[in-house]
Amino acid sequence: MALWDGRFSGGPAADMVLFSQSLDVDLRMWREDIAGSRAHARMLGDVGVLSSSDVLVLLDGLDQVEDELARGVFVPGPELEDVHMAVESRLTEIVGEVGARLHTARSRNDQVAVDVRLWMRARLTELALAQRDLVAALLERVDVDGDVLIPGFTHLQRGQPILLGHHLLAYAWMVQRDVGRIEDALRRQDQSPLGACAMAGTPHPIDRHRTAELLGFAGPVQNAMDAVAARDHQCEAVSACAIAVTHLSRMAEELVLWSTDEFALVRLGDAYTTGSSIMPQKRNPDAAELVRGKAGRVIGALQSLLVMVKGLPLAYNRDLQEDRQALFDAVETTLACTRITAGAWRSLTVRRDRYEEALKGHFLLATELADFLVTKGVPFREAHHVVGRLVRDCEAVGANFSILDEAALKAAHPAFDASALLWLDPRRAAERRTSFGGTAPSEIARQVGALRMWLAGA
Ligand code: ARG
Repeated sequence: MALWDGRFSGGPAADMVLFSQSLDVDLRMWREDIAGSRAHARMLGDVGVLSSSDVLVLLDGLDQVEDELARGVFVPGPELEDVHMAVESRLTEIVGEVGARLHTARSRNDQVAVDVRLWMRARLTELALAQRDLVAALLERVDVDGDVLIPGFTHLQRGQPILLGHHLLAYAWMVQRDVGRIEDALRRQDQSPLGACAMAGTPHPIDRHRTAELLGFAGPVQNAMDAVAARDHQCEAVSACAIAVTHLSRMAEELVLWSTDEFALVRLGDAYTTGSSIMPQKRNPDAAELVRGKAGRVIGALQSLLVMVKGLPLAYNRDLQEDRQALFDAVETTLACTRITAGAWRSLTVRRDRYEEALKGHFLLATELADFLVTKGVPFREAHHVVGRLVRDCEAVGANFSILDEAALKAAHPAFDASALLWLDPRRAAERRTSFGGTAPSEIARQVGALRMWLAGA
């Protein structure tokens, strides 16, 4: 028997019961549902809709339901439809007739909305903390290996020598903005829909500010229809998650690349790699690959939510029951991926000297030679052309810049002198880039300082 079956003469078909239930997804909000019921009962008592003795009975009953759910003693079945009906039915079994008074001036539509907001508040707070920890993990890596010289890539072609710290900080700033987006999304969860009822409010003298206060919300949602029909706060949070996982996925892609024999820049720790069931030598970067794969799920969840909402007339429609599947998965997957990524960065070893020698004489220093000419007064475009010719000439004999001497440089352009050869040093090239945001150690140190201040809340 359902709590809503008064006007029905027959029950739902067996397959409809299973099709209609959402317990398998929304039962995980049982703590939030009980918190919402407690606040609602207290408020109904405060305004005199319920007697204080009824409120005490309801609160005791809710304690018992909470205890039974926590201990796994009460395991609601699909016939109870959703977490809201499960909690209310069990409560009514325990406390009897008083239980039937709790639903005065509320509806499942506002219960769904309040439970989700409470759930999001907790999870997004956890997520922002995990993201901050990821920034901390990247900064730790910069402390240890920030001075390692690596090729910087564009088009996945070697471009210019940079320091690893510069590369890691690029990610740290992206994650720092991800935190900002999640914290913004958190602010939009911070209003209570409770007491909106189905959509129109209620004739009972309820105090929605009081339930908002009891649940720790900044205040009630202003409009009762908006309170039950809006899902933009969910879309916003999942959108912030989707953006965050694109960053995690880019990092994951680089960790996969960097751990190959071809790049051979890092070795992931054993804790974040797995073996092959057939090839005994394998040590696969599965942590990173899973992050890259799971990112797709989160991006898909955003699509699901937006498509679900875009054609819905106001106010509540049952389509909305499907929102939690996408929402929970997106937020929990983003949280898991963030934590695993921080662990992976902490676990890895950087092969410090891997590129130091390899970059000497490399065409990665082409921009250096052009910049040298510019310091001698040559226009950059002309310098670019001159060095392009040098690259072509070296390539024609199967060599690189290591064959250049003063005479060869002078033949290419009279503004070259012997000191240009000193510019063909990849570490010096990186260290010379002291412009704001450049790869020089002083700029790396400045950014690490700024991010540490931010992490400290300054
Ligand atoms: N299980 C439903 C949901 O999750 C609860 C709301 C049902 N409301 C209704 N009018 N049928 O959305």
